[in-house]
Amino acid sequence: MRVDVFSTKPYDREFLTLLAQGSGLDFRFHEARLSKETVAIAHGAKVVCAFVNDDLGAGVIGSLAAMGVAMIALRCAGYNHVDLIAARDAGIKVARVPAYSPHAVAEHAVALILTLNRKTHRAFNRVREGNFALDGLMGFDMHDKVVGIVGTGLIGRVLARIMSGFGCKVLAFDPQPNAECKSLGVIYVPMDELLKRSNIITLHCPLTPATHHLINDDAIAAMKHGVMLINTSRGAVIDTRAVILGLKSGRIGALGLDVYEEEGDLFFEDLSGSYIPDDIFARLLTFPNVLITGHQGFFTQEALTAIATTTVANVVAFAREGVPMHPVAYPA
Ligand code: NAI
Repeated sequence: MRVDVFSTKPYDREFLTLLAQGSGLDFRFHEARLSKETVAIAHGAKVVCAFVNDDLGAGVIGSLAAMGVAMIALRCAGYNHVDLIAARDAGIKVARVPAYSPHAVAEHAVALILTLNRKTHRAFNRVREGNFALDGLMGFDMHDKVVGIVGTGLIGRVLARIMSGFGCKVLAFDPQPNAECKSLGVIYVPMDELLKRSNIITLHCPLTPATHHLINDDAIAAMKHGVMLINTSRGAVIDTRAVILGLKSGRIGALGLDVYEEEGDLFFEDLSGSYIPDDIFARLLTFPNVLITGHQGFFTQEALTAIATTTVANVVAFAREGVPMHPVAYPA
């Protein structure tokens, strides 16, 4: 069965090729992002394999169906970018990778927290220039600090465990509290209390209508002065304009982002020889207390192995039984 992979990076090719050995699947790799302009490349494919910033709107899905594509294999967990009604109407099955490594993302959030706190990114450059002065590098003990975790699902839970190990007091907000966190000593509180009491606030909830711009002017006004804010979930959970105002006023003392509202135009591409077309993003980069990574939370060997393994299993199950292993349910 032919599987056309869009938005291919060298690591996608490496892991999928390795883990598809013996599966009998015929993977064809394309660097192009899936869009109305590139969809014709998939002519002859039965399955299209796509990532977070590929266009899976009704137009592209209609073209895929017309070409005989019967399945979309997402190599990510989120499917908010897929027009599921169009897929349903076209009879195209959609599959995803529901969980690959919560450790990868939780540990990346810890990397952002520790870097912003102890300013190792600045120390690295200083020492290389022979500047051993410590001014501006002062941090704080993590021990006894209050960490507020918004969303204690797979990732938030791992982070709660790590933060407990640092001796932090962990508060959490989640409409569905879980017993494992409670047994760790995590205290569930209402969102406004979490905002008020936390020294570090870290976001691990999905992007839904309820969490869109959850961190807005009002939420920031409720936070402690100098709070550290971390977002590795989805960019639009925070209102970037409000966060910039918070950084300017000093209410937000440090900001760590692995995701950005408009990341589709920037992330996963090398723009170093060009320019940053997004002025709001460019403004964020001017703050010394802002650290941004380009959606790399998932980027570990273990997570890529799990993504490729599940993607191959999804397609193999579809080839054998007509149903992928982890289907995305169509809307009712
Ligand atoms: P999960 O589904 O296991 O957990 C999400 C948790 O958020 C659930 O416990 C849910 O009850 C809670 N939640 C839902 N609405 C909420 C609200 N309004 N306020 C607070 N909590 C709420 O998801 P998982 O695997 O822990 O991932 C969390 C998010 O991390 C994903 O939705 C995704 O956006 C992001 N992610 C980022 C990656 C990266 O590379 N940076 C990679 C993978 C996921």
